[in-house]
Amino acid sequence: MTSVRQISDRLAIPVIVAPMFLVSTPAMVIAACREGLMGSFPAHGTRSTDVFESWLVEIEARMRQLEDEGSRPAPFAVNLVVHESNARFKGDLDLCVKHRVPVVLSSKSAPGEVVARVHDYGGVVFHDIASQRHAHKALEAGVDGLIAVTGGAGGHTGTLNPFALLNEVRRLFDGPVVLAGGMTTGRDVLAAQAMGADFAYFGTRFIATQESSASDGQKQMILESNASDIFFSAAVDGAPANWLTKSLLAAGADLDVLRTTLPGKIVASDQTRKRWKDIWTAGHGVGNIDDLPSTQALCLRLKQEYTQARLAFGQRLAGTGASG
Ligand SMILES: Cc1cc2nc3c(=O)[nH]c(=O)nc-3n(C[C@H](O)[C@H](O)[C@H](O)COP(=O)(O)O)c2cc1C
Repeated sequence: MTSVRQISDRLAIPVIVAPMFLVSTPAMVIAACREGLMGSFPAHGTRSTDVFESWLVEIEARMRQLEDEGSRPAPFAVNLVVHESNARFKGDLDLCVKHRVPVVLSSKSAPGEVVARVHDYGGVVFHDIASQRHAHKALEAGVDGLIAVTGGAGGHTGTLNPFALLNEVRRLFDGPVVLAGGMTTGRDVLAAQAMGADFAYFGTRFIATQESSASDGQKQMILESNASDIFFSAAVDGAPANWLTKSLLAAGADLDVLRTTLPGKIVASDQTRKRWKDIWTAGHGVGNIDDLPSTQALCLRLKQEYTQARLAFGQRLAGTGASG
């Protein structure tokens, strides 16, 4: 089985470009992996199981080509929603097994079946959690790592403060933990490590790239928004999520009604597709996003910032003696 250590060794910096519905593309995944960041995409973000397989084939072919040219791309990952609302779950899991997807990012319900089948071919499973209770259940199901989704994350989010959640998770588990929520710079990656995480999960920052399939309107709204322009609600599609306030208003939503509406049933992704086309999600990190670089340029920038942050922080600790 691929160990998580083997995966870390193939990353230039400990960053996973997070799976994003209607945003992730094969081009984004390939560009990230090529620069040594783990690229990923949600299986349900593709139009059908056939399209999902065509994305896998395209990514695998490009990875092989990069390896033949002497590069060492990072492994890629696929997000599978383990929930009764996901009618494609079985077929998509079968394809992950057929293609031996190196890393599966499971979300929503307990991922027991995913763990068994992915471990069978030597893959690795990381599961999304937003509380210590979720972490407990995921660990019981045998996952290899946890993704701590904290307050301020884009998409379906947690609500807990990152220090609080990480510390609670670390009381249970000393294995790989990915921190998600609000990060946009290489310095944030170092901060996540200092807090006790092993990897940083970057979503929103990558919406504003050339390879993202978000609409121009969503990208522009991200450039114009700050953290205070993000609205939290579970009433849009039944799961707690962060939304760009201006997109809610443009779609005619009444924020006071949303604030007081109880969440309904979780909506299936084919229906979510219609809603997410007009109402856009993003996390608190929007306020630090000013440009639309290529994925490659953004990855290079993150690597450079991370290296600089390590150096500067090392000097700071040495200078102040704070390390002792
Ligand atoms: C537009 C958008 C779509 C998302 N879609 C998914 C998804 O399909 N599956 C999933 O597991 N997470 C999804 N997420 C959550 C991300 O994987 C990740 O947890 C989050 O973006 C991290 O926080 P950040 O956006 O503040 O960086 C989505 C996030 C965004 C912004």
